[in-house]
Amino acid sequence: MSKDTFRVLFVCLGNICRSPAAEGIFKSIIRSENLSDKIICESAGTAAYHTGSLPDSRMRSAAEKRGVILNSRARQIKPSDLENFDWIITMDEMNYQDVLSIDEAGKYSRKVIPFCTFCKRHKDGFVPDPYYGGLSGFEHVLNLLEDGCMEMLKRIKEENPFIAA
Ligand code: 4NP
Repeated sequence: MSKDTFRVLFVCLGNICRSPAAEGIFKSIIRSENLSDKIICESAGTAAYHTGSLPDSRMRSAAEKRGVILNSRARQIKPSDLENFDWIITMDEMNYQDVLSIDEAGKYSRKVIPFCTFCKRHKDGFVPDPYYGGLSGFEHVLNLLEDGCMEMLKRIKEENPFIAA
């Protein structure tokens, strides 16, 4: 079967701050390039505490000021996500290890990629959890996400010629 979509899942802990913001930013970039039918993007948390919730109001208002509306509902990552997504992009080291631990046989480990490996303008090794901090933490997360998402799309296009066709 020929491949006609590329599927990305962003993962953080609660799925109410970092990964839904990544989903919203990446979707807005994809939309602006008319690629919404070729690149599918979702987000999930390793924990289930916030299942069904909208993103954190602080993250929603910080993103909205940048023109990005966040309206996903939190869900927990499940084993079938490892099979169904092409890339599973983790925000920090704990998320990375927690996702790998779901993949007991190590069959999908090459799909699991730390977000900050895509950042060009920032040297941070991970996307920090802004939940217990001040508003500047949310802005920093959005800066990292905007940086890495641009590069991610570039890489997806380079590695999947059907996207640009
Ligand atoms: P996130 O942030 O992983 O970026 O969604 C968090 C949200 C909630 C909690 C921790 C991190 N919490 O402990 O409830």
